[in-house]
This record gives sequence, C-alpha cells and structure tokens, in this order.
Amino acid sequence: MRKPVIVGNWKMNKTPSQAKELLNAIKEKELDSEVEAGVCVPAIDLTLASEILEGTNIKFGGQNMYFEEEGAFTGEISPLMLNDIKANYVILGHSERRDIFGECDKLINKKVLSAFAHDLTPILCCGESLEEREANKQEEKVKSQITADLKDVSEDLVEKMIIAYEPIWAIGTGKTASADDAEAMCAYIRNLVADLYTKETAEKVRIQYGGSVKPANVKELMAKENIDGALVGGASLKADDFAALVNHRK
Ligand code: 13P
Repeated sequence: MRKPVIVGNWKMNKTPSQAKELLNAIKEKELDSEVEAGVCVPAIDLTLASEILEGTNIKFGGQNMYFEEEGAFTGEISPLMLNDIKANYVILGHSERRDIFGECDKLINKKVLSAFAHDLTPILCCGESLEEREANKQEEKVKSQITADLKDVSEDLVEKMIIAYEPIWAIGTGKTASADDAEAMCAYIRNLVADLYTKETAEKVRIQYGGSVKPANVKELMAKENIDGALVGGASLKADDFAALVNHRK
C-alpha cells in the first residue's frame, strides 16, 4: 500500500558539471517504476536536476530551505524557488543541519509547515546520537524531535510526508543499524504518529531508514514491515549503486 521510496541525498557533493554527468547517468538507468526514486541535490544543482529529469519518473528536491517566501535572508533558498523549478521534496531537519548549523526543532517546525503550505513533500529527518543510543535514549530523542517538528501540522497533510529515521552514529560511518534495530525504530515512529494523529494516518506515512544504506544491505532493510524506503548519502553518488538501490526488488 505504501509505495517504497528511495531518495539520494547528495549532501555537499557534485559541482554543476559533475551533477550534469551524474543526473544524465541516472536518467539512462532502467529503474523499477514500482519504486519512487528521487535525488536531493545541492541548491546550485537544482535547476540542472529540474531540466535533466523533466519527463522522467525520477523526482528531485532540495536539501534544505528557509520558511519565508522571499526577503533579506542571505544564503537561503525559499519554497517559492523550489516551486518554480517544480521540485517535489525538501529534506528538513537533517542531523547535519541540526548539529553543524545549529537548527532547532522550532525552526524545523516552521520549515515543515512552510513546505506543506507550498505543496512540497518534506522528508523530515530524526535520529539519535551514539551517546543517546548507548544510554538507551533513542526513543525519547526521536519522540521529542517528531512531536516538536510536527506541531500544528494537520492530519490530512501529515499522511503525505516522509519521515527519515537516521541514527547519527550510522551516517557515513559504514556502520548500518541492524535491520532489526532500524525496524524497531521505524515501528516506534509509526506508533508515535498514531498517537499524535490516528492509526489510519500512521499507516499512510512513509518512513525511511538512512545511514550507510548500500546495494549490499538494502534488501534486508526494505524487507522490514515498517521500513518504506531509504535516504541514502554516499551510495547515491554513483549511478550504478543508485540504480541498484532503486531496483532492490528485482
Ligand atoms: P550515508 O548513506 O552516507 O551514511 O548518509 C546517510 C544520510 O545522512 C542520508 O541523509
């Protein structure tokens, strides 16, 4: 019922000329149409993604945005800019935004509301640090993030979003959460959405796992009941690997 969704988060990789090459290489791949595939590229590569992916089934989006539509916000991009190039998604609250750039839940909540108001699908990230995991505080951490980030988001909107569970200790480290641990947290998040909204809504929300997902482990993760997709960093930077992730069911 929930369409699997594999999204590449390129992070701060690929200059426009490199992006052009990778986008064209991805476009050439035969991708399983039963799986939603997308790429979230650096702001400077967004127009290229829009042009190159036009007419394909591959979706694209930004890795961040500010919540205002325009104005004196040096260095930011706005939902109107993403709308203008027909972006589908925007990643919000990635742990790198939270930890390196100091984004707090209050700000992320404003961004989530703004994304919905502009018809963009937020990919809302959450997840615990190694310290929190070792103290068995992963549920507490994710609960506080999701509850704050979804404040004032109505039920009809929340069902359209994507939530990405990304334990910080598994990002870019080669250490994947075990499929069972990832499933346990994704199930926890679904129950949390059911508590905040309803069970029906929770059944519709798509929940991704992120953290060292690669062709070698994607099948096992995707086989889990509550894991509907993956948000992929490193492995999404090679067209062959990205295609293998999207085609994990073949
Ligand atoms: P890696 O796949 O490189 O571990 O990155 C995960 C991630 O942060 C995706 O948003």
